[in-house]
Amino acid sequence: MPTLRISDIAERTGEEITLKGWVANLRSSGSILFVQFRDGSGLLQAIVSKDAVGEELFQQAKTLTIESSLSLTGVVQQDDRAPGGYEMQVSALHIVQVGQEYPIGKKEHGVDFLMDHRHLWLRSPRQTAILRIRDEIIWQLRKWMKENGFVLTDTPILTPTSCEGTTTLFETDYFGEPAYLAQSGQLYLEATTAAFGRAYDFGPTFRAEKSKTRRHLTEFWMLDAEAAFVDFAGNMEIQEQMISAVVQNVLRERQSDFALLERDTSFLEKVKAPFPRLRYDDAVKKLQELGNPIKVGDDIGADEEMLLTKEYDTPFFLTHFPAAIKGFYFQPEEGNPERVLGSDLLAPEGYGEIIGGAQRIHDLALLEQKMKEYKLPVKDYQWYLDLRRYGSFPHSGFGLGLERVVAWMCGLDHVRESIPFPRLLTRLRP
Ligand code: 4AD
Ligand code: MG
Repeated sequence: MPTLRISDIAERTGEEITLKGWVANLRSSGSILFVQFRDGSGLLQAIVSKDAVGEELFQQAKTLTIESSLSLTGVVQQDDRAPGGYEMQVSALHIVQVGQEYPIGKKEHGVDFLMDHRHLWLRSPRQTAILRIRDEIIWQLRKWMKENGFVLTDTPILTPTSCEGTTTLFETDYFGEPAYLAQSGQLYLEATTAAFGRAYDFGPTFRAEKSKTRRHLTEFWMLDAEAAFVDFAGNMEIQEQMISAVVQNVLRERQSDFALLERDTSFLEKVKAPFPRLRYDDAVKKLQELGNPIKVGDDIGADEEMLLTKEYDTPFFLTHFPAAIKGFYFQPEEGNPERVLGSDLLAPEGYGEIIGGAQRIHDLALLEQKMKEYKLPVKDYQWYLDLRRYGSFPHSGFGLGLERVVAWMCGLDHVRESIPFPRLLTRLRP
């Protein structure tokens, strides 16, 4: 018989049951102890009274501390006033361990203290709400991919070459030859797309980002998706349909977590395809009108994105970037090779880029020429060029940064809370 959990007790009210978990909070009043009890699936108020459990058990119960582990037996009743909506009249209890004094208390802690105690901080209601929303986003993304014909083909993490430039590579020793942690699975995914027509991967990716911002991790999760015979416009349609469906499904499934986070979900409710499109050159004009010093040819950085997102209350695509600020594989715009068929999907409310996507170059000669311009070791990419030798096909794809989506949906002001154990420029521990 598996352990009964708080999430299952609705059908068991009025019965005597046993639950196992931890003390979330404690309050005593004479011969009664109120235990806020959590088991990871929910919260329950437990009432331990000396009359019901007897002197000996009551004295034991009085030794409980915050986060002590224990099992409780008693009859559960619904009670809307109780935290969690249920109350247990305890008839017996068994202490598994009386926890040492818990370092995370009710007083305000600084960010560094909380991050040093991330392994414990994870148990707090706010952190569990965020991680449940993260779990739901992953689930809904995978569901959407499957329902839309994308086959999961995970790509390697140890790679001999780079995908997104050489400045953010993590290098490691692979039995005497250098290897790099993957920055994106895209190039490999292009190969599996020739096998399946539509493919995706979803896994950790790595970038030695030297920037200390609220949205950069050095290890983050990316969903790359790629589709054969889909052009630049079709690629954006796939993204907007996926994001609309995922946002609406996550909102519906995790209402109570959004409420706990006090997240104003009105912007999220407006996330419905189609999303506006804004060409890079028009974005530059708009930014200049807003007083930003950007010039044509400059990259659109975090500050510029922030300004632009104020102009929209839904996600929107930034498109047709200058070729020089993008990677080697971006298909040039027809008749205007200075601009490429790439798009960034920007989330509103100041969040900015959550997805980067593009139509890929499928012409062998053009791709070879671009690789030379980008000073890439062409010989190491022969397998990638093979995709243009044996039945080359127009194709497009994108990469979604999971933590960026979690931060946006949860309304977080820093990406560090969006992943269980964040890896940042200045943080490798715990
Ligand atoms: O825009 P990026 O660099 O695109 C690629 O890597 C393509 N190869 C993806 C593809 O087309 N299959 O990264 C994709 C997304 C970004 O939009 C952003 O959401 C996220 O990955 N991202 C990061 N998230 C957290 N920390 C970082 N350091 C990130 N760098 C990128
Ligand atoms: Mg990008």
